[in-house]
Amino acid sequence: MASLKSVVPLGVCLSAWIITIGAQNSLLQAQNVHWVSLDFKTILTWTTEGSDLTYTVLYSWDKADWLESADCIQMLDTECDLTHNLIPYDRTYTADIQTEHEMPDYPEEELNHVYSPQFNPYKESNISAVNFTVEKVNKSTVIVSITDPLTSIHERGKQLSIREILKSDLHYKIIYYKSGSTGKREVTSDSSEVEVSQLDPGQSYCFMVAAYIPSRPKTTQHGAWSRQRCTPGSNDPLQEWSLGAWVGVIFILITVFIIIVTVTILCCKCCRQRNKTLQTSQSSAAI
Ligand SMILES: *[C@@H]1O[C@H](CO)[C@@H](O)[C@H](O)[C@H]1NC(C)=O
Ligand SMILES: *[C@@H]1O[C@H](CO)[C@@H](O)[C@H](O)[C@H]1NC(C)=O
Repeated sequence: MASLKSVVPLGVCLSAWIITIGAQNSLLQAQNVHWVSLDFKTILTWTTEGSDLTYTVLYSWDKADWLESADCIQMLDTECDLTHNLIPYDRTYTADIQTEHEMPDYPEEELNHVYSPQFNPYKESNISAVNFTVEKVNKSTVIVSITDPLTSIHERGKQLSIREILKSDLHYKIIYYKSGSTGKREVTSDSSEVEVSQLDPGQSYCFMVAAYIPSRPKTTQHGAWSRQRCTPGSNDPLQEWSLGAWVGVIFILITVFIIIVTVTILCCKCCRQRNKTLQTSQSSAAI
């Protein structure tokens, strides 16, 4: 019983010490590690609460061959651009962030490393909103021409577009609706030039476009939606007037005409009367 009494405080002490060391370790290792990737520019970011720390980033897709990222060796930054390392794109990569202290004799066991979440650039890189134009072909058909966003990947001096990376996996989704109405229609196409037909002649339509990659998991299939772009309505607005509008216009015109005629007649009568009285008074004055 006596021995147990002395063991308990020792155990408490020991676990407190272990917790302290643990807390210190978690302070020193990279925290909130996550990937940020847009149009295949892929950056690993993290935060830290330690000071005088440097980081070295390793990456691997099979967790066997770890490679160092040449630009991210013993650096003070808390982000690492791995765009040019994660090739081929369609692999699931893990990064390993190793923490070092600037003081050479810093106790090594307090330093740590941490694995990133897994990341597949081909399946998970976000796609930015696209630019596009809408051109009228005839009364009921337009062509939507989309500019494939550029990536920050260069091959033989040429900057690649997302089409050159995603190839036939790249589709576009177009949503369009008649200006002022809520009914939306949707078309998808594997081309960057999309013909949209069966539009009502003379109507203004609004279009929005997003990259769409059906081969990806649901959550990353859609790129960002573009801003909407509207076509003008018919150049000849008279064409769209209903019979009611025409009747209204003709009624107003007739009313205006009647008013003008009435006013003119009244005025003339008035003038003639005044002239008459003027003449009478003049002639009486002459006598
Ligand atoms: C992609 O965009 C979404 C929404 O903005 C964001 O939550 C996500 O973290 C982004 N993914 C990457 C890999 O950048
Ligand atoms: C408009 O152009 C499209 C494609 O060129 C064609 O299929 C369609 O028949 C044309 N419609 C009219 C009304 O001319």
